[in-house]
Amino acid sequence: MVSIPEYYEGKNVLLTGATGFLGKVLLEKLLRSCPKVNLVYVLVRQKAGQTPQERVEEVISGKLFNRFRDFYFPIFYCHFFFYRDAVQLNVIATRQLILLAQQMKNLEVFTHVSTAYAYCNRKHIDEVVYPPPVDPKKLIDSLEWMDDGLVNDITPKLIGDRPNTYIYTKALAEYVVQQEGAKLNVAIVRPSIVGASWKEPFPGWIDNFNGPSGLFIAAGKGILRTMRASNSALADLVPVDVVVNMSLAAAWYSGINRPKNIMVYNCTTGSTNPFHWGEVEYHVISTFKRNPLEQAFRRPNVNLTSNHLLYQYWIAVSHKAPAFLYDIYLRMTGRSPRMMKTITRLHKAMVFLEYFTSNSWVWNTDNVNMLMNQLNPEDKKASIFCFIIENKYFTMSGLPAARKHLNKLRNIRYGFNTILVILIWRIFIARSQMARNIWYFVVSLCYKFLSYFRASSTMRY
Ligand SMILES: NC(=O)c1ccc[n+]([C@@H]2O[C@H](COP(=O)([O-])OP(=O)(O)OC[C@H]3O[C@@H](n4cnc5c(N)ncnc54)[C@H](OP(=O)(O)O)[C@@H]3O)[C@@H](O)[C@H]2O)c1
Repeated sequence: MVSIPEYYEGKNVLLTGATGFLGKVLLEKLLRSCPKVNLVYVLVRQKAGQTPQERVEEVISGKLFNRFRDFYFPIFYCHFFFYRDAVQLNVIATRQLILLAQQMKNLEVFTHVSTAYAYCNRKHIDEVVYPPPVDPKKLIDSLEWMDDGLVNDITPKLIGDRPNTYIYTKALAEYVVQQEGAKLNVAIVRPSIVGASWKEPFPGWIDNFNGPSGLFIAAGKGILRTMRASNSALADLVPVDVVVNMSLAAAWYSGINRPKNIMVYNCTTGSTNPFHWGEVEYHVISTFKRNPLEQAFRRPNVNLTSNHLLYQYWIAVSHKAPAFLYDIYLRMTGRSPRMMKTITRLHKAMVFLEYFTSNSWVWNTDNVNMLMNQLNPEDKKASIFCFIIENKYFTMSGLPAARKHLNKLRNIRYGFNTILVILIWRIFIARSQMARNIWYFVVSLCYKFLSYFRASSTMRY
């Protein structure tokens, strides 16, 4: 079989989502590792006052594309897509892309990126497209006449045992791809939770703080102190470069072999490299203590809990109260408050992730293993398209100034706690005779111990 770079030689690739986390890494990888690809078309919309052209220019002027500085990117193909909600984004958009693909005479492969949690209502997930919770066509039709209020009312009933509309519509999208793309050569890649890059183009790259990487940074900064999670739940995190490598390899395999059935790949790490949320917490916190981040808010420390009351207590005491006090301090020093806003954003990200940090799933990865074994010896040897992780992938760098800052924060915490204990004790002593008696007893015991210690050390000399 030809190697992956040989397969992409002279080919035209249409990429959606190129302004997103995965899309950027895929675009860079395609240009770098398959340099003889003919054209890469990117489908980009206008957003936040920027034209599609300006947005593409911004993407390729980022650090990720540093090695292409002298490259000329002609930007000539752009398109607009506007959608109202998750159904329109994940289902209708996918359907429209299938329709577009059907009109392409020389299309070799249609690769669809789904999510490993599309069927999270099952505990064991095979590499197949399961029947949808509802017929997507019927849902799309009914959404046409329903107003937003009605849609909101029926949403909880519709999504049933799935945690949110994103997951629900991703399952519908897979069904649309399977049914309407029946005549196309389709591959579906299902990543679990996508995190920072493992190796390429450099370790630790991310472009947003929405996912787990954002929570890790918040923990490192000492802002995130608690999370609803189970210590023993599997943390299925997959680096973005692994997802990109698997997607390129999946398209290569389907392009060459033209399999009869749709190929689904569970892009997960749980079966090859099991890692639990308790371990993640331990590694993240100990790494950030050794290699602190600059300008940390507090010394990193996180409590994982699955107990609702305990979680609410920690949220109030270690998130909201310090943020509130810090905002008062900012106001008093003439600066605008920002910590409560940060905490609110953090809580939104935590709410989205808590279902996944509290439960475990088993994914079958037979197709992924088959794909790895099918790789051309050249690709395997160079491990340019590797998508099996051999080890855990936390990498962070340390700064002496940040370490000093962290020590200062630790001393502040010790000082603050000591003052608090003395204050509480003073109030207690003033009000209770029993507390006074205990206090005198402890003081006299200490005094006796010190006198004995002094006497015995004098005798020795
Ligand atoms: N990140 C994860 O943890 C994860 C996990 C499992 C699966 N996935 C799947 O992987 C894929 C990419 O995820 P990501 O993390 O890269 O997401 P992302 O950073 O949010 O990027 C999404 C991309 O899709 C584009 N897009 C969204 N709505 C659009 C619309 N209506 N019209 C045109 N373009 C639109 C966005 O364009 P704009 O920049 O214009 O908004 C952006 O380029 C998604 O299918 C996602 O479901 C992601």
